[in-house]
Amino acid sequence: MRNFLTCILLTCLYQRVISNLHSEYADDLNCAVAKRLENQCASYCYQVIKPFIQITHECHQKDAKIADLIEQLAKYKAAESQNKELLEITANLVDIKEMISEMKTQLNKSHNVQENEHNTQNTLNSGLKMIKVPGLEVFPVLYNNHIAGPGWIVIQQRLNGDQSFYRDWAAYREGFGDITENGEFFIGLEKLHRMLSTNQPNELYIRMEHVNKIVRIAHYDNFNVGDEVSGYKLLSLGKHLGNSTDALRRNEKMKFTTFDRDNDAHISSNCAQIQNDGWWHAACSDSNLNGIYNDAKHCIYWNSAKLKTNGDCLTSVQILIKPKITLD
Ligand SMILES: *[C@@H]1O[C@H](CO)[C@@H](O)[C@H](O)[C@H]1NC(C)=O
Ligand SMILES: *[C@@H]1O[C@H](CO)[C@@H](O)[C@H](O)[C@H]1NC(C)=O
Repeated sequence: MRNFLTCILLTCLYQRVISNLHSEYADDLNCAVAKRLENQCASYCYQVIKPFIQITHECHQKDAKIADLIEQLAKYKAAESQNKELLEITANLVDIKEMISEMKTQLNKSHNVQENEHNTQNTLNSGLKMIKVPGLEVFPVLYNNHIAGPGWIVIQQRLNGDQSFYRDWAAYREGFGDITENGEFFIGLEKLHRMLSTNQPNELYIRMEHVNKIVRIAHYDNFNVGDEVSGYKLLSLGKHLGNSTDALRRNEKMKFTTFDRDNDAHISSNCAQIQNDGWWHAACSDSNLNGIYNDAKHCIYWNSAKLKTNGDCLTSVQILIKPKITLD
C-alpha cells in the first residue's frame, strides 16, 4: 500500500514537472493521452495529498496556538512568581511589624526599669555625704534629690523654729545648727564660698512653703558668693526663674551683715539687728529667710516689704545649690 502510494505520488510529480517543462508541447500528438493521464494523476495526487495538506495546515495552526499558549503560560508564571514575591514581602512586613512592636515593648520595659533604678538611686543619693573642696577639710553636706531633682545640696533649712538664726559673724562664717534631713541649719559662708568657686555657673533654688500650704520657688541660674575679704559678697544671682517674685535682686552685690558686722547699705542702722537675722542686706531686704520662725514682727518671708503681711509668713524654707563639685 505504501509502495503503491509512493509510486503514484512520484508519477504525479513527474507528470507535473514534465508538463511544466514541456507546456509548449502540450498540444502534441500525445496531448490527449497526456492530458488524460495528467487529470487522472492530479485527481489521485490530490486524493492522496489532501489529508497531508490539511494536517500540515492544522499542525501549523496548532503550533501557533501552542506557541501562544506557551507564551501565555510564561506570562502567567512570571505573574505568579511576582505574586508569590509580593506575598512573601507582605509576610515579611508583617513579621517586621511584629518585631518592631516587640522591640518597642522591650525598650519601654527597659526604660521603665531604668527609670525605677534612677528613682531608687535618687532616694539613695539623698542624705549626708562627705565632700572635699580645695582649702577646707572634708565636711558633711545634705544632698536632696526630691525637691529639685538630683545633685542638689541643702545650704539652709527652716522647718520648725528649733534653731536660732540670729547669730554672729563667726557662726555664719562656720555654719550652725543640725545638718540632717529634719534639722534646721545653715552650712556656713566659708564652705558656701568654696563650694561655689568653680569655673561653671552654680544654681540656687529656694523652696518656700507658706502658712496656707502654697509652695513657691525662687530659682537663680548663676549664684556666686565671694570670700571673707569681700564680706562674702553676693557676687551674682543670674536669671530669676520659678514662680516667686525676684525678691533677692535687691541683695545682689551686697556684703553679708550680722548684728556684730555691719556691711549693709543702711546709713544709720544695722539691718541684721532690724530684721533679727544675718543676710546680704542692702537697706535692708525684700526677704527674710533667716528671720525668726513664726514671729509676728520678723517672721520668715519672701516678698516686697510693702506687700508683706502676716499671711506671707513661711512655715518652711530650703535653700539649695547645685555646685559642680565631686564627692570625697
Ligand atoms: C510603656 O510603659 C508605660 C508605663 O508602664 C505604659 O503606660 C505605656 O502604655 C507603655 N507603652 C507601650 C507602647 O507599651
Ligand atoms: C510653684 O512651682 C512649684 C514647683 O514647680 C510647684 O510645686 C508649686 O505648686 C508652684 N506654686 C504655684 C503657686 O503655682
